[in-house]
Amino acid sequence: MGAFVIEGGNPLFGNAVISSSKNAILPIISACLLSDEESLIKQIPGLDDVTVMCELVSNLGANVEVDGRNRKIYIKTPTLTGYFADYELVSKLRASFLIMGALLARAGKAKVALPGGCPIGSRPVDLHLKGFEAMGAVIENGHGFIEATCPSGRLKGANIYLDFPSVGATENLLIAAVLADGETVIENAASEPEIVDLATFLTKMGAKITGAGTDTIIVKGVDKVRGAEHTIMPDRIEAGTLMTAAAVTGGDITLSNVVPEHLKPVTAKLRESGAEIIEGDTEVRIKSNGRPSAVDIKTHPFPGFPTDMQAPLSAYLCTAEGTSVIVETIFENRFMHVNELRRMGAQIRVDGRTAIIEGLDHMQGAQVRATDLRAGAALIIAGLAAVGTTEVLDIHHIDRGYEFIENKLQRLGANIKRVC
Ligand code: UD1
Repeated sequence: MGAFVIEGGNPLFGNAVISSSKNAILPIISACLLSDEESLIKQIPGLDDVTVMCELVSNLGANVEVDGRNRKIYIKTPTLTGYFADYELVSKLRASFLIMGALLARAGKAKVALPGGCPIGSRPVDLHLKGFEAMGAVIENGHGFIEATCPSGRLKGANIYLDFPSVGATENLLIAAVLADGETVIENAASEPEIVDLATFLTKMGAKITGAGTDTIIVKGVDKVRGAEHTIMPDRIEAGTLMTAAAVTGGDITLSNVVPEHLKPVTAKLRESGAEIIEGDTEVRIKSNGRPSAVDIKTHPFPGFPTDMQAPLSAYLCTAEGTSVIVETIFENRFMHVNELRRMGAQIRVDGRTAIIEGLDHMQGAQVRATDLRAGAALIIAGLAAVGTTEVLDIHHIDRGYEFIENKLQRLGANIKRVC
């Protein structure tokens, strides 16, 4: 399964280039099912999740040509050859449920395995389904599958109010609405930057969308969309993770290919803890000012503090001066990293969705296990700061969302290596 072996204690110095966003490219690959013309996606990140998403759309009739050297993918779907996504692939990647909107829009039917739970929570898809129903789809749920059909052959525009601004539901409904008959209004929509990137891509394809990035998105359905060319936005979570790694090790690094505006909630917390952060147009420099001070964090939908940065920041605060309180409001079980951090000596108490961290002078290296992607990132951060050797097991979780993170960290001076 592979492991990272980290000798802690090296401060990070130098420059790194941030890769493109995992969470932005996945719905965009799905959106390529909407058109029979070729789309070109540029600056693709080399991630396992991207490979799975490409496999999924190619099973449905897309021709996917990957030009890895130039970081490009060409995707063309002349006709859909299927409308069925099995559990094997869907269970590997929850975001694969995002093909439902595209299939319904293009074929008027879709059968997708229920994604099931995952370590961070039950993650239902009820909001996606309520939206499709409002657009005229008939939903059947049985034998582990969701089957949706459009009796009229085409989705109808509808007014949809999401009970919660779910990122996935907003993306799925946005993609579905592009080819619907009439106008769709999604209220209480998610406003994450990845939604804006998806809407930008869809607009280049000829979709008529306004309001992406706000809580109300309006889509005027069109009959057909064309292929488009698009460069994926930078990964704000990778950037936040490397900033935290620099701060925890007492380093000073500059990251390029970032959108500082996207990083605001993370930047604010790192600054509050004492780090110095200088923002340029497309780069950000972070410089540690010694041991961080404790800060309190509560996760929220964008522009609040991202749940994906909760575990990395928790690891950072384990060696802060004072007591930090972390409240996770998005997922019900996103403290899986806590038990592993305790193995490294961290003093953390969890009560429901709240973690209370008593900062220590230092943590000790230990053998720990990545239970999910961001928990894995947290353990790397802890290992970089700890005294002695940390071995992070099950790093396939980390490879899902960080492109060769060990290479980037090594170039910044970290002592980290991958072992098989
Ligand atoms: C996306 C991101 C993930 C991030 C999350 C929140 C991708 C591929 N993944 O996940 O990295 O942590 O946003 O920013 O982009 N919910 C329901 N019913 C639904 C849908 C969601 O109850 O139909 C709940 C979920 O269980 C969860 C919360 O809403 O508690 C947020 O989920 P959502 O915003 O949908 O996250 P994802 O799109 O799965």
